Amino acid sequence: MTVRVPAKVNLQLSVGPLRDDGFHDLVNVFHAVSLFDEVTASESDRVEVVCDHADVPLGDDNLAARAAHALAPGRGVRLEISKNIPVAGGMAGGSADAAAALVACNALWNLGRTPGELMEIGGTLGSDVPFALLGGTAVGTGRGEHLTPVDTSGTFHWVFALADGGLSTPQVYGECDRIREATGEAAVWPSLSEPLAKALADGNAPALGGALVNDLQPAAIMLRRSLHRTLEEGRELGALGALVSGSGPTCAFLAADETHAREIAVALTGCREAVIAHGPVPGAVIV
Ligand code: C5P
Repeated sequence: MTVRVPAKVNLQLSVGPLRDDGFHDLVNVFHAVSLFDEVTASESDRVEVVCDHADVPLGDDNLAARAAHALAPGRGVRLEISKNIPVAGGMAGGSADAAAALVACNALWNLGRTPGELMEIGGTLGSDVPFALLGGTAVGTGRGEHLTPVDTSGTFHWVFALADGGLSTPQVYGECDRIREATGEAAVWPSLSEPLAKALADGNAPALGGALVNDLQPAAIMLRRSLHRTLEEGRELGALGALVSGSGPTCAFLAADETHAREIAVALTGCREAVIAHGPVPGAVIV
């Protein structure tokens, strides 16, 4: 049973105040893009994970393994993860693998859980897991797990500048809090950006480029100074918009069309690798 699952980029990541449970309330516009992981589930007497990428933990803290445990405690499965989404890159690769494992195990074990039930279990595993099941473009509230689809037209073309090494999500949120405390900048209760929603509904890439926002970007740049230069480079190459993806360190650039995306990707120098992708695409599906 093989499931294909997309990466995400956040078109708006507005971070509200720190909550008592250690999470932040968000308004988070997720957009699924055509960088895919694949997870293959097969019968086994215990939960075991294998992966073609050395940086992915294989023990019980692997999110795909945790997904299998959460779906049917005590059941075994072999999960083979084929990674294409950058690891710890701010594109929800770990959450994507958990979402794929939920769909694959539900089918392999004939459990008959509904998409809504899988989303509920997914939300307990990580804030980004429900969106990896849903795909498309959606606004997430709460810690990001309460989702409402967002109306979009057409296809948007992206370039992703992949960095060496990852960034820790909790560390980036912590740095965001630290910067706010140091500057006296109060966290505001976020709401969905109207210019962003309109640009998406109109399929207007230049307007979307101007409306992209990520409150975690200053924190990610503080922890990885080179991201500032990478974003500048993309803008100089004519990107319609440039931002850090989620908690980083991947940088996302919006292009006018696929040809423009290829041009930017070929010209970018200040990153390990640049890849192109388009969105929106569907969430986790059996292939
Ligand atoms: O839910 P997830 O496992 O992706 O969260 C990882 C970490 O990111 C959390 O432990 C928390 O530090 C931070 N986070 C947050 N507010 C959110 C989502 C994540 O502070 N809404």
